[in-house]
Amino acid sequence: MNNDIINEVRQKVDIVDIVSEYIPLVQKGKNFFGVCPFHDDTNPSMSVSREKQIYRCFSCGASGNVYNFLMDYNHIDFKEALHILGEKAGIDIGGVSVSKTPNKYDRFYEIYDIANKYYQNNINTKAGTKAKKYLEKRRIDEELIKEFGIGLSLDSMDSLTKILTQKDYNLKELEAIGLVSNNHDLFINRITFPLYDPSGHIVGFSARIYDGSSQNKYLNTKETIIFKKGNCLYNYHIAREYARKIKYLIIVEGFMDVIRLSSIGYKNVVALMGTALTDDQISLIKKLSNNIYLSLDGDNPGRNAALSNGELLTKAGLNVKVITLPNVDGEHDPDEYIIKYGKDRFDGLLESAINYSDYKINSLKNGVNFSSDLELSNYINSVIVEASKIDDEIRREIILKKLANEVNISYNTLEKRLNEYLEFRKVTNKKEEKKTAPQPKTRLSKYDIAAYNLIYAMVNNSEIIKLFEDKKVQLMTKELRSLASEICYYYKKYGNINVADFYTYLNDKEELLTIFNHITSMDFDDDTSIQAINDYIGVLEEYRVRQEIKRLNELIKKETDPIEKSKIAEKIRLLRIGD
Ligand code: CTP
Ligand code: MN
Repeated sequence: MNNDIINEVRQKVDIVDIVSEYIPLVQKGKNFFGVCPFHDDTNPSMSVSREKQIYRCFSCGASGNVYNFLMDYNHIDFKEALHILGEKAGIDIGGVSVSKTPNKYDRFYEIYDIANKYYQNNINTKAGTKAKKYLEKRRIDEELIKEFGIGLSLDSMDSLTKILTQKDYNLKELEAIGLVSNNHDLFINRITFPLYDPSGHIVGFSARIYDGSSQNKYLNTKETIIFKKGNCLYNYHIAREYARKIKYLIIVEGFMDVIRLSSIGYKNVVALMGTALTDDQISLIKKLSNNIYLSLDGDNPGRNAALSNGELLTKAGLNVKVITLPNVDGEHDPDEYIIKYGKDRFDGLLESAINYSDYKINSLKNGVNFSSDLELSNYINSVIVEASKIDDEIRREIILKKLANEVNISYNTLEKRLNEYLEFRKVTNKKEEKKTAPQPKTRLSKYDIAAYNLIYAMVNNSEIIKLFEDKKVQLMTKELRSLASEICYYYKKYGNINVADFYTYLNDKEELLTIFNHITSMDFDDDTSIQAINDYIGVLEEYRVRQEIKRLNELIKKETDPIEKSKIAEKIRLLRIGD
């Protein structure tokens, strides 16, 4: 990998500008602060340094240079991050080859790629005629089949198993990743839809019957080491880019809905695949946009899903709007609606989507018997509770006015109740804040502190590298020792070193990157004095001596020869007095 160009690109762009494109930053002193996108952050705990060109989060420990930020934020690999920045910097990186960091799951991704190509090919053979007819009937044309990688698993017990085992993949691993079950193919005679992880690897399939051959409409890959259902949203890897650009994301229930919406130009769509939103999915969604349109089915389960998912997304701080489809038999999901009424009508629905809180308040009316005093007062209360959750005073007033008219009760009475709820909310919010305050980090030993400070100083000041080597400092763990030796190596090779570039260098050394992250996120002093560094080196030397004494004490216990025993005892004595 050509580090010169990579570093040149990095130097041409400013990390503050790039991070600002994704999260709002506010300057405080030398640094810029924002809400950390890499954990469930509410207070701005991420700082971005213009001077050092790195970011770090003091709460979750995420840190890195501008490449790390883009890779982690967008779930892209180094090459993609380099392309994005190269374009911004106006540097042609076309010819730069970046060695791909091997991933421990590469073999599994490879298997899924082969399986997917095989299925895709099947659908274009004679065996695929019936499946094609089915798709045609559902208005999925050649172009959509290609776009979504739709394929066909044959009506055979082991056609895929055979192909893969002939390629030297073994049954055990095929079973572990969910393609094989009891030594035969899992997917038999179904239309296959590949499922991708957020980085765009195929990691599973959802497979649909098309000729009534089974009761089970969809068969999905089970949870495996690479496929976590709760971490998967259909079409996420595509919707990512579009949702960011047009600044909103549409969430639907099924992947047929995603495919249909894509065919009329909405590419910023993901599907839940029939489950309630998990925390992981919500974090994934938050990375794309703060503006969410829920376009779930028009039937009762769909409306309930809009309520429960809308609640979760709102609690996560997102602006949620709900698109309601007519609740009539035959066209209750976006796919069917669009087929029947066309793009323009759907555009209209999107335009007239209502705020989640209004949607919820409307739904509170359902099933209420207005002639019962008890039900009526419960209804009034629940509307006021919902109104109290809304931050906007004007909207609260509108809701109360409407309610006052609707139930014929004076506005003032309702407002009094609202104020009580608002007060209550303030108190409980304060308590919540206390509960979620960041936990104190685990205490570091003085040896850890010395080692971390020393390493941090080495990357910031090459004089310290020389000092480290001259004094032959011994660090406590294998990882710390390799990290220090990489720093020395880097300095020798490139003649200088800085934190931001060193991050790039560590990219494919996952273990070292983890401790380095840990160290940089500690917020150590930038210009530690030589005196302080010498003190740290002293502390590390003390550690080494203590370990050596410990080792000799063990040795002395095992030794039977009295002469040898006294030799060891003398060594210990010398170490103790510091000779
Ligand atoms: N689903 C599933 N297993 C089922 C039914 C549904 O995994 N037996 C998931 C699928 O991911 C599906 C989503 O739940 O896309 C929504 O279900 P549904 O609305 O029934 O599916 P559609 O996408 O409408 O599929 P189709 O139109 O082909 O019936
Ligand atoms: Mn459907």
